[in-house]
This record gives sequence, C-alpha cells and structure tokens, in this order.
Amino acid sequence: MTGNKTFTMIKPDAFAAGNSGAIIKMIEEAGFSIKAMKLVKLSAEKAGGFYAVHKERPFYNDLCKYMSSGAIIAIILEKENAVADFRKLIGATNPAEAAEGTIRKLFAKSIEANAVHGSDSDENAAIEGSFFFSELEKF
Ligand code: CMP
Repeated sequence: MTGNKTFTMIKPDAFAAGNSGAIIKMIEEAGFSIKAMKLVKLSAEKAGGFYAVHKERPFYNDLCKYMSSGAIIAIILEKENAVADFRKLIGATNPAEAAEGTIRKLFAKSIEANAVHGSDSDENAAIEGSFFFSELEKF
C-alpha cells in the first residue's frame, strides 16, 4: 500500500525569486493539503545532515552551500499516492528534462537550484518530515 504523505522544500532560488506563493498554489490545486509548514534558514551542517545520502556524490559540497545560502520553506503534504503524484507534479531533477507544466520546468534555474525537493519514497518522506517538524507541529 502506498502512503499518503510526502515532504517538500521550496529551495533558496525559488524562495528568493518570490515564487513560493505560485508554487504553493500549484501544489494545492493539484490536490495536496498542507500538514506542516515553516520558513527556515539551514546551516551548511544541517543541510549536510538532510542530504547525507548524497555525501559521496561530487555535487554534495556545493549542494550544502546552496541549500544554506538563503531561506527555504519546509512542508509536509498529504494526498493519496502522495510521493509519486508529487514527483510527477515537480518533474525531473534536471529542469532541462522536466515535462512542460511541471514546477521545475516553470521555476527551476539549474539541476542544483531546482526550485523544490520531493521525497523519493514513503520511508524517506517520514524521515525528512521529522527532520524539520516535531509530532506536535504536524496536523
Ligand atoms: P533533490 O531532489 O533535492 O535531491 C538532491 C539534490 O542535489 C537535487 O535535488 C539537486 O538540488 C542537487 N543536485 C545538484 N547536482 C545534481 C546532480 N548532478 N544530480 C542530482 N542532483 C543534483
């Protein structure tokens, strides 16, 4: 059975460009409801902890720098089949490969500054949501 929660971040490039409202509107119009949301500035260490699975990847250090370069919005979302449906809504990691009408096609600047994050599994959605929110902060 697939889960009904996913986790997303509106990344520094999209937040700084003033695209948070448009992105959240697209997410809500696609049928997701917001279960937790906060504006956060990550330290490079915190960003490194969040993306620890990518530690050995060549882009890891730049990713930590980028993700700590400005404010982000962390959000837990609910919808049936949330993980897969959200990944469809945001499009491919590389905006050059993202389908027309997806959030990354519309708002991402590059493969790194790609506007939004989306969990890749139900298990990671739970882990990532709990990275930012306590049980009391989840609706
Ligand atoms: P995200 O879906 O949040 O997961 C890992 C992030 O690493 C990715 O989005 C991008 O922001 C960033 N990244 C930078 N370079 C690459 C790359 N070559 N391949 C995949 N992810 C990359």
